Amino acid sequence: MNEVSVSAPGKFVILGEHAVVYGKPAIALAINKRFHLSMRRDNEFKINNEATDIRANPHMRYISSKNDMLPVSVHIDSKIPTGSGLGSSAALSVTFSAAMRTLCGMSLDEEEIAKEAFEAEFFSQGRGSPMDTSISAHGYGIALNAPAAEEDLLWKITKNEHAWNISKMDVPPMTFVIGNTGIRAATGPLVEKVRKYKDSNRFAADMVDEIGRITLEGMEALRKNDVVGLGELMTKDHKLLSILGVSSNELNKLVGASLPYSYGAKLTGSGGGGSMVALTDQPDKVCDAIHSRGGTPFVVRTGVEGVRVSVKSE
Ligand code: MEV
Repeated sequence: MNEVSVSAPGKFVILGEHAVVYGKPAIALAINKRFHLSMRRDNEFKINNEATDIRANPHMRYISSKNDMLPVSVHIDSKIPTGSGLGSSAALSVTFSAAMRTLCGMSLDEEEIAKEAFEAEFFSQGRGSPMDTSISAHGYGIALNAPAAEEDLLWKITKNEHAWNISKMDVPPMTFVIGNTGIRAATGPLVEKVRKYKDSNRFAADMVDEIGRITLEGMEALRKNDVVGLGELMTKDHKLLSILGVSSNELNKLVGASLPYSYGAKLTGSGGGGSMVALTDQPDKVCDAIHSRGGTPFVVRTGVEGVRVSVKSE
C-alpha cells in the first residue's frame, strides 16, 4: 500500500483581503510555514491514528465525495496556527485534495488542485474567494484581478457572479514580520459581516472599492520596489478594514506598536483576531514591539514553493 506525503504553504495578504471576495484585486505571498498531511488506505477512517469520521470535516467530506469515499488514514502536522489568518484551512484543503488525487491516480495539476480546494472551502464556508487556496497550491506570490502579462496568468476561477484571474506576482526581497494575536477567528462570519455591511450601506461599498484601488497602487509600488509607498498603502488598507469592522483591539495594538519601526502595517487575512503583518527594515525592533504587546512575532521568509507531493511505496 502506498503512503502519500503532501505539504503546502500558509500565506499572508499584502493588500486586498475582503474586497477580493467581490472580484477586486489582491496580492498574497506564500510563507515558510507549511501544512503537512500524509494519507494511506486503511480499513476505517482515521485522523492522527484515531478512528474518526473524516466526513465530519466539511473540507474533507467535499473532496472525498468528489474522488472516492474508501476509508483512509490521515496524519496531519501543521506549522500554520489554526484561525490565525495565515491560510491553515486552505492549506488543509490543498494538501487533502492532492493526497486524495494521488491515491485515486488522478492528475496532480496545480490548477485542478487549487480549484477543487477552493470548492471545498466554499462548500464549508458558503462564501469567499479563491485567493488562499490558489496561493497555497502555487506558492511564491500571486495577484488576483490585476493587469498581468498573458504568460503570467496561472488560472481563472468563476463562482456565482464573481470571476478571478490569478497570475504570478514576483515580489522583490522585502522583510515582513507577522504578529499573531493568538485569538482564533473563523473566516466565514467575518466575510459575512462585511457582505451585510457593504450590501446595506453605500459608504461601506465605497470602502470596498477603495481597497481595490489602493491594491492596484500597491502593485505599482511593488513593481518599482517602492517600500515606502507600499508601506503607506498597507497602513491605509488597515484603516479601511477597521472601518469595515474586521479589526480588533488586539490587532490595532500590534499594528500601532509596529508602526514606529515599519514602513507600514495592517491586519492580514480575515481579521477579527488572527494576525497582522508589518513591512520593515528593523525586524528585531518590530518583533520586540509585538512581543511587548502580547503578540507572537516571527519574521517570514517568502518565495517558497506551493503544494509538493511524494509517494512512499511499502
Ligand atoms: C482570508 O484569508 C481572506 C478573505 O478575503 C476571504 C477570502 O478571500 O476568501 C477575508
